[in-house]
Amino acid sequence: MTRYTSFHPKTEIVFGPGLLDRLEAFGGQRVGIVTDSFLAGSGALQRVMHHLRDAEVQVFEDAAPESPLEVVQRGARMFENFKPDAIVALGGGSPIDAAKAILAIVRGFDSDHRIQLVAIPTTSGTGSEVTAYAVVSDPAKGLKFPLVSQELVPDIALLDPELVRTAPARVTADTGMDVITHAIEAVVSTGANNFSDACAEKALELAFGYLPRAYEDGDDMEARDAMHQASCLAGIAFTNAGLGLNHGLAHALGGRLHLVHGRLNALLLPVLIAWNAEAPKTARRYARISRRIGLDVPSPRAGVRALTREIEALNKRFGIPSTLKGMGVDLNEFCRIRSEIAAAALADACTASNPRTPTQAELDSLLASLAG
Ligand SMILES: NC(=O)c1ccc[n+]([C@@H]2O[C@H](COP(=O)([O-])OP(=O)(O)OC[C@H]3O[C@@H](n4cnc5c(N)ncnc54)[C@H](O)[C@@H]3O)[C@@H](O)[C@H]2O)c1
Ligand SMILES: [Fe+2]
Repeated sequence: MTRYTSFHPKTEIVFGPGLLDRLEAFGGQRVGIVTDSFLAGSGALQRVMHHLRDAEVQVFEDAAPESPLEVVQRGARMFENFKPDAIVALGGGSPIDAAKAILAIVRGFDSDHRIQLVAIPTTSGTGSEVTAYAVVSDPAKGLKFPLVSQELVPDIALLDPELVRTAPARVTADTGMDVITHAIEAVVSTGANNFSDACAEKALELAFGYLPRAYEDGDDMEARDAMHQASCLAGIAFTNAGLGLNHGLAHALGGRLHLVHGRLNALLLPVLIAWNAEAPKTARRYARISRRIGLDVPSPRAGVRALTREIEALNKRFGIPSTLKGMGVDLNEFCRIRSEIAAAALADACTASNPRTPTQAELDSLLASLAG
């Protein structure tokens, strides 16, 4: 059994003026681009293509929310004969995760041919540009689950906040709450360490400070830049420390009830913090977060309450409901599949690093309290 821990930064993270020039290093090579139809038509793809003008490019623009397996297989078939030297993923978490899953299949066709993965996020949310995770779904079976492998970590991440400028307030809020969930789960995770804490706590300082500004004014580029870096920092934190039950439940619920990932995480977060904080060590970690973001923390319990209240206030400001009913879930359907959701959350890879291990019965009652 391995007893040591390693912190494994692999991705070259590029930020600052003119960063898309980094793509010009792929001149003369074959480059496959994976994106979605919105970004393909939005001007973002044209900007990227401009910097790849000396490369031979093929574009797969069918990436879809939650990365359905059927889309992944179609993308892999498209690139099977093209034999790209690099895959560039352009978009939110869905296109980046689709690109990772496509790459895993395409690498299998010819394991001697090295294919680089370049991720260009256009939302400030998943941190997928630096993580070993790719969340895929099987809509027919109502399943959504993370693939986890160091092979999925991108080689290069290009953090251009200009590409996020067009994200509407709704997407900014949902994805921004995903950042906060990643960083909080990383801090209390069983895999947390000083290196992951450094990234997670900085991510939280930036996200609590700048998310309201990015939400109110999408052209506030200082806020957009801060949120883009916060998202990446949170990604570094959780890919090393692990996530927790919040994400385990979000995958189990999201796959079956088709709910937006970040918004669902935000709804779950205050409830999960209160439940996890029953362990004194975890309560102290939440209180450390509260102190870092400038809240009043006379005791660990007060720190937990202050953090929960802060998140509830953000959710209210962003119009994020506090119950599944408020998210539009059919409660009869929810009750019918509740124990199936609890079982799926228990089996989810993210749940393993939660600081408190739930029983199926505890999960069932947590879920019941969310219905509304
Ligand atoms: N791989 C990981 O580490 C990881 C971590 C957390 C979540 N995820 C997964 O990522 C997916 C969610 O990703 P997401 O939250 O980034 O959303 P997304 O990629 O599904 O995008 C949401 C919507 O925003 C649009 N959009 C994206 N960028 C835009 C821009 N700049 N301007 C305007 N519209 C834009 C998209 O076209 C889409 O309609 C989920 O499947 C989730 O489970 C992955
Ligand atoms: Fe997430």
